[in-house]
Amino acid sequence: MRTRKWLANDNLIEAIEQLKGGEVVAFPTETVYGLGANARNEKAIEKIYKAKGRPSDNPLIVHFASWKQIEPYVTDVPDYVSQLMDAFSPGPITFVLKSTGKVAPSVTAGLPTVGVRIPDHPVALRLLEHCPFPLAAPSANLSGKPSPTLAQHVIDDLEGKIAGVIDGGNAKTGLESTVLDCTGPSPVILRPGTITAKDIEKVLTGQMIDTTSQEQVDSPISPGTKYKHYAPEVPLYLFIGKDQTFIREKLKSRHIGRLCFLQLDQKATLEVEKTYELGQSNQEVAKRLYDVLRHVSKTDVDAVYCVLEGEDALSEAIVDRLKRAATYLYVED
Ligand code: TXA
Ligand code: MG
Repeated sequence: MRTRKWLANDNLIEAIEQLKGGEVVAFPTETVYGLGANARNEKAIEKIYKAKGRPSDNPLIVHFASWKQIEPYVTDVPDYVSQLMDAFSPGPITFVLKSTGKVAPSVTAGLPTVGVRIPDHPVALRLLEHCPFPLAAPSANLSGKPSPTLAQHVIDDLEGKIAGVIDGGNAKTGLESTVLDCTGPSPVILRPGTITAKDIEKVLTGQMIDTTSQEQVDSPISPGTKYKHYAPEVPLYLFIGKDQTFIREKLKSRHIGRLCFLQLDQKATLEVEKTYELGQSNQEVAKRLYDVLRHVSKTDVDAVYCVLEGEDALSEAIVDRLKRAATYLYVED
């Protein structure tokens, strides 16, 4: 299949025609690139799973241009959802709500719920306004690889496997949306993102927000969180609060690279072969992380390591993604 490439300021008619014809098209959002298809068309959705090599028990987020478009797809919506929508949508947040069953069965992977989101990106919104259906869209990477924050990442993973990709430049946020289970009396964070529990608590004054650690749950509510993600092609060693001797021991005699946070943690432990700078602020690190993880695989190191001295300075979402990318994780006892 020839993968077409469009620019964000093209008129998008061709991309919309492809989507209407049941094809899969990658498009930019403010978080990461999404791999979109008609959420009501089972055959189109199967093409997403096939292109990504995604396990069939991992449901997809459905994207809309407005709350009005979402309404027919969800039911039993708690009052707090409208407050959160007003505060954060369009934006990097996904609401898991009871589904009315109007999306194709594989979108929800058999769950009674559906994840809905209004992305804050002009191209995504234009597509969603012009398609007569919502777009189911996981991140547009091969399953297990870092999510794409540039059109080139999508092409590297999926060229020849999808109908097209719309190039919207560098994704603004760089980390996937916060996924919030809104089926209970108060919301529960299933996947941390740039919108934090604190941000949510500020809007719902007085309500405590739970974060479920999915690793500890036998039957995860958000199936995607049980899979390994974001791994570079060389092993990533992640050390949290471990001392220098321990780290040196684990890494000896390797052709090694290091992921470092400017200012957050500056001491090099080894004579490192290469350093990869992730940035200074949480915002900068979020924006660059996946690009750096992809870049590492293309250089000639045979392993890479990263040291977190204390998790406090870094956002929960970044620590979460690093842990899931890690091949070896050493946490201070
Ligand atoms: O920012 C984002 O969320 C990006 C952009 C493209 O919108 N999308 C994205 O999709 O990250 P994906 O498929 O890579 O991750 C979706 C996550 C998975 O962990 C999945 O299990 C969870 O959301 N999810 C989707 N529907 C769900 C549902 N009904 N109940 C619980 N979790 C759900
Ligand atoms: Mg993903």
